Amino acid sequence: CGIVGFVGEKDDALPFIFNGLKRLEYRGYDSAGIALAASSGIAIQKTRGKLAALGELLASLPSGVPCGIGHTRWATHGRPTDENAHPHTDCRGEIATVHNGIIENFQALREELMAKGHVFQSETDTEVIPHLLEEYGGAEDLEGAVRKAESRLEGAYAFLAISSRHPDRIVAVRRTSPLIIGLGEDANYLASDFSAFLAATKRAQILENGDMAVVTPRSVTITNLAGDMITRPVITVDWDIKQAERGGYAHFMLKEIMEQPDVWGDCLLGRIHEDQVVPKEIGLTPELLTRVKRIQIVAAGTAYHAGLIGKSLIERLARVPVNVDVASEFRYAHPILDKDTMVIAISQSGETADTLACLRMAREQGVFTYSITNTVGSTVARESDAVAYTLAGPEIAVASTKAYTTQILVLTLLALALAQVHGNPRPDLVRRMLQLPLLGHKVLDRMNQGIESMAQRLAKTHDVFYIGRGLDYALAMEGQLKIKEISYLHAEAYAAGELKHGTLALIEEGTPVVAIVTEREVADKTVSNILEVKARGAEVWGIVDDWLPSTLPIDHRIAVPIEEPLLAPVLAAIPLQLLAYYTAVARGHDVDQPRNLAKSVTVE
Ligand code: G6P
Repeated sequence: CGIVGFVGEKDDALPFIFNGLKRLEYRGYDSAGIALAASSGIAIQKTRGKLAALGELLASLPSGVPCGIGHTRWATHGRPTDENAHPHTDCRGEIATVHNGIIENFQALREELMAKGHVFQSETDTEVIPHLLEEYGGAEDLEGAVRKAESRLEGAYAFLAISSRHPDRIVAVRRTSPLIIGLGEDANYLASDFSAFLAATKRAQILENGDMAVVTPRSVTITNLAGDMITRPVITVDWDIKQAERGGYAHFMLKEIMEQPDVWGDCLLGRIHEDQVVPKEIGLTPELLTRVKRIQIVAAGTAYHAGLIGKSLIERLARVPVNVDVASEFRYAHPILDKDTMVIAISQSGETADTLACLRMAREQGVFTYSITNTVGSTVARESDAVAYTLAGPEIAVASTKAYTTQILVLTLLALALAQVHGNPRPDLVRRMLQLPLLGHKVLDRMNQGIESMAQRLAKTHDVFYIGRGLDYALAMEGQLKIKEISYLHAEAYAAGELKHGTLALIEEGTPVVAIVTEREVADKTVSNILEVKARGAEVWGIVDDWLPSTLPIDHRIAVPIEEPLLAPVLAAIPLQLLAYYTAVARGHDVDQPRNLAKSVTVE
């Protein structure tokens, strides 16, 4: 979920909150709402559906109110209905709250409050907060009530509270879920991430776990829950608001796919010197790299797929053993970690709850942690011993593209840096990395036509299979996730050699199969597997190294200029991303905001 707050001296809070929510819509878009606090009372509008639906209701809210909060929801407890939309209020309608995260003990609290006469309007866990605040006298003493209520809540969350008796302040609490204060001239802002207030200010304070803040137009007071004053540094965010806008493309996803070659240039800038990776520029030192005997990668979704590519590259280039696990599994798997292991958390947002939990677990066990993230100042970045930023700029579309390919680049740099300290330097590869932006442009120039017609065909099918070996198998997994996420087709990725052990039974006349062949070492083997599916009637699209002969047994050929197979993943990812994109467009879906998903998932 995304939360936004505005408290100013004279400016209208409403337009700011609505625009802030637009920027946070990637965090969830099942429902949305806004509450404004004036001495005459709390005014609320909320509705299920996307922000546009809320936009139509805003005219009925009073104008000129300088204090308010807003929310865009990704449903956890309770379906996306009008009633379950935030903000939620107390019985008297004097307090309103918005919340991101989960209150784990809400059921017990709800029963306790109902026994005291509180009447609940929704099925959410959130609604216990305003009722608890009411119980503790929150309309009058919001800060004191928040402190008392907070001690009763269990879980991982962040929330904002306003009261009509004090319409000059927002009280905010952060417990795990992200919350940032934007510092303006005669107004201050609160949001789940910077993008909500970038248009107004670039100065911010990041709240830490257990912080509570009282924010007025001209002051920010941060305390811990015991009430002791705390100082948090003021940082300056250097993201440009233009980067977070669509710039002429039909969708953010297309814009983000197209800008990849340039973004790769940004990601590599300064990190390579005289055919060597500069460890310091990826957050590490040669000494640290030498000490690493094993690597454990944890990540979710697309970042997990980047991790699979990282494993293959690190093992092949540096001969350091690597495990990759899905974070939600790893955190409960009783993992064995020793002091020679480096745990790498890969997370575009830097806020994914499961990934963060793995990181914390590793730190508790005294293991060195390293994060690869796109979000400066994110929780994952701040809580790891070392960090490398992917420098992809803000990624808005829910389906990750440029964040993924830059994660692969950082992992490639890491693999090469490890290879350097282990006495297997690969200056040839390091040099070639610098060619990737150019090759990326070449791939994009070649693509559109073939991919669009392929997408038209795929859009009419129900299932599609992605196959490959080695790095191509990891790419196949990302390809199938991309198409599932936005075109809602059933897609499966299979290690090409594994098909014959079951999945081959699903191949029939006309079944679409996307075969990825960039791994030269095993190209012949994959070609045999392609023949196997063709023999069962499959229609095969090959995303292949253009070095492979044009006589390959495929029905449609999408050739990618690879040159160096170990660097192929970022290039071969482009046709896979475009294929998913155009298929979703052909099926008429909302590409940037696919159903049921959110970009940053800060709950378990
Ligand atoms: C969500 C997003 C995915 C993303 C995953 C992990 O599910 O929709 O695109 O890959 O979270 O996110 P992270 O921010 O940790 O990379």
